[in-house]
Amino acid sequence: MNSFSFTTTKTLINEAGSLQALATHCQNLGIQRPLIVTDQGIVGAGLLGKLESVIEASPLKHAIYADVIADPPESIVHAALEVAKHHNADGVIGFGGGSSMDTAKLIALLANSDEQLSDIYGVDQVKGKRLPLILIPTTAGTGSEVTAVAIITTGETTKAGVVSPVLLPDVALLDAELTLGLPPHVTAATGIDAMVHAIEAYTSAHKKNPYSDMLAKEALRLMGDNIVTAVQDGSNLEARQNMLLGACMAGQAFANAPVAAVHALAYPLGGHFHIPHGLSNSLVLPHVLRFNASAAAALYAELCDVLLPGSNLNSDSEKTDALVQYLEDLIKTVGLPATLKEAGVTEESLETLASDAMLQQRLLINNPREVSESDALSIYQAAF
Ligand SMILES: NC(=O)c1ccc[n+]([C@@H]2O[C@H](COP(=O)([O-])OP(=O)(O)OC[C@H]3O[C@@H](n4cnc5c(N)ncnc54)[C@H](O)[C@@H]3O)[C@@H](O)[C@H]2O)c1
Ligand SMILES: [Fe+2]
Repeated sequence: MNSFSFTTTKTLINEAGSLQALATHCQNLGIQRPLIVTDQGIVGAGLLGKLESVIEASPLKHAIYADVIADPPESIVHAALEVAKHHNADGVIGFGGGSSMDTAKLIALLANSDEQLSDIYGVDQVKGKRLPLILIPTTAGTGSEVTAVAIITTGETTKAGVVSPVLLPDVALLDAELTLGLPPHVTAATGIDAMVHAIEAYTSAHKKNPYSDMLAKEALRLMGDNIVTAVQDGSNLEARQNMLLGACMAGQAFANAPVAAVHALAYPLGGHFHIPHGLSNSLVLPHVLRFNASAAAALYAELCDVLLPGSNLNSDSEKTDALVQYLEDLIKTVGLPATLKEAGVTEESLETLASDAMLQQRLLINNPREVSESDALSIYQAAF
């Protein structure tokens, strides 16, 4: 077995209704003046009002930055930081999907240290300490509440990550009541993203380890059993809590055994066509797995046993085919477009996408099979 290290969020609360204890968690961390970082979708869904009523019943003095946008650019981080400084915030609450949580992570750091955002991109460039930080996911997707990463859009088509254990929050609250109103297409796309986190962690080339394996398998079991119910019957609290926990476990897995070619080929789709992160992953997922099969069939077979127990299949290659078929069927059942064409991607762009995917070496090195630019192009062509 490889040597490995494993890092995660110190305190996880997996409980429907746990938002009600938010003020207590703030007080336990010494927070008196929190900044809440969120977006207008959360405001529109009535969730910010719910959070504010919990805070207003306590002695906390809060301020709000509610203008995060999906795939947040640097300007959003700077604007939220101004609000944090103006309020003299002594703690940060990230409330929303990955976009709001990632922004909150950076504000907790930058409001407490003189570092500039432009100096901290990359791995372990952060020097300062952050303010106390609580993350509350409202999508069952990115797992940002347990990852040491914040992803920011840095140019027209480029993203960059700040990677540092400082960005792990003190507390993550997994409260499925907050996800009951998540629209079906967002539930589907963010749920498939989380399943990809588990699949790619399980085949991660260098850092896969017994903890990440255990979490990836249980994450897939939970999400495989619940994603269709969560999409088709959004008010099912049990399915929603299982999805939230599954996405969190998948986040713990990939935070320690990083994702690979599915994500590397998904990023250019988001960059060029503004396709949401989860849908981008879903569009290339079956095709990357087919490409990887020659190197990863034994591992895919183990995941087939998790998602399709009692399948009565014997060989690794039969089980890999069954896994890919299961995922293709699932993508259809949850109502996501199955081809790049349906998602608005143009055929002329495929070469540019393939060349951009090659820039994601940080991810591609984790893939079980080496991916060349012509391989990437073939995968996009198959997905078209
Ligand atoms: N930090 C990490 O480890 C990590 C990992 C993967 C992706 N990311 C980043 O996370 C971002 C994507 O996050 P996401 O997929 O969670 O989407 P998101 O945060 O961009 O949210 C998507 C939309 O869903 C809405 N929404 C969220 N929760 C809702 C709810 N409960 N009810 C109604 N509407 C709701 C939001 O308002 C928003 O409009 C990207 O920027 C991506 O790069 C980060
Ligand atoms: Fe992802």
